[in-house]
Amino acid sequence: MHISRLEVHQVRNLKQVAIDLHSAANVVYGINGSGKTSFLEALHLLGRGKSFRHRDLRLVINHDASDLIVSAKVERQSPPRTHQLGVKRTRNGHFMARMDGENLQSAVQLAAIIPLQLIDAHSFNLLEGGPLQRRQFLDWGVFHVEPSYTDLWRRFQKTLKQRNQLLRHGRMDEDSLRIWTAELIPLSEAITKYRQEYLIGLADHVAAVAEKFDGLGLLSVEYYRGWRDDCSLSEVMTGDVARDKLVGTTSHGPQKADLKIKVDGILASDSLSRGQIKLLVYALKLAQATYYRSKMGESCLFLLDDLPAELDHRHRRQVIDCLYDLDCQFFVTGVDKHDFDGLVRENAHKMFYVEHGAMVAS
Ligand SMILES: Nc1ncnc2c1ncn2[C@@H]1O[C@H](COP(=O)(O)OP(=O)(O)OP(=O)(O)O)[C@@H](O)[C@H]1O
Ligand SMILES: [Mg+2]
Repeated sequence: MHISRLEVHQVRNLKQVAIDLHSAANVVYGINGSGKTSFLEALHLLGRGKSFRHRDLRLVINHDASDLIVSAKVERQSPPRTHQLGVKRTRNGHFMARMDGENLQSAVQLAAIIPLQLIDAHSFNLLEGGPLQRRQFLDWGVFHVEPSYTDLWRRFQKTLKQRNQLLRHGRMDEDSLRIWTAELIPLSEAITKYRQEYLIGLADHVAAVAEKFDGLGLLSVEYYRGWRDDCSLSEVMTGDVARDKLVGTTSHGPQKADLKIKVDGILASDSLSRGQIKLLVYALKLAQATYYRSKMGESCLFLLDDLPAELDHRHRRQVIDCLYDLDCQFFVTGVDKHDFDGLVRENAHKMFYVEHGAMVAS
């Protein structure tokens, strides 16, 4: 898929931008504070319905405006279709997403149309941060290849919340606890199964992408499902019910899952340099895009904030070549346009210059 035209209204310092995009590479350059990351924010809002920097979307609306709007023409390949997509967020908290003239129920529907991957200055957290980041990485993948996963995930979250509320209650209703536990277990097992199957499918793609990046070593991704390997969830939950009551939360299950990402058998976060960790993040996300394409026949959209600051020239080239080979549309920012010399392909890119929130094709 790719976005052929984008219109941005009042996103941070981008007051009004309307541009035609390239279906492959789009380079956005300009000095510090010109609006490059804000441009990626606009795309992220469109693809995910949320900011990648702020929980509170009011911070993303231009200081002088009462609302923000991002709209786009989106071309899908599989099946071939053109969609008109738009999101609007007002300062008083109203959020609206529309596709082809119809209101969408939730941002999940946006995500299904635009499989979007972001890599920015905080992405090393995928390896160095807490397990939530890795679960989000994994769930992004499962969500995009398993249409029923969203519904399952919602039911699981709802049931987990009910059980946790009960655990936090002073006087425990044992029957209710048993009922919620019995409901939670099959949902947890179904999530675990989807995640495990996804990781099996992803493994070959991880190895193939890692081979394209020299110096990375042998990559492996292991899954910790959120409870001991040698017990069923039912056994673990029965055994730990007293502890759950004490801490007021469910201690085992997919909500505690994690990934162990290793290079040559050693935990990546314990052994790699910062640059190598960044490269590994690129490799993992590109592997997801490769897998997604092989399963769904569709390419992903990549947002790469300040690529030149993150990787050396050789590795930048390997990343960009990979994006071209995967037919991805990508948006890459940097301060100096010459940093992209020899990286983007001659007739397969567009350059945009940003200054004080105004963008022009250059
Ligand atoms: N809500 C807002 N309204 C107006 N301007 C904002 C808002 N939020 C941030 N800005 C400003 O927008 C400008 C552009 O920020 P942005 O992060 O896009 O810059 P950038 O080009 O990515 O810079 P850098 O090269 O330093 O990363 C900054 O000057 C910032 O202060
Ligand atoms: Mg920036």
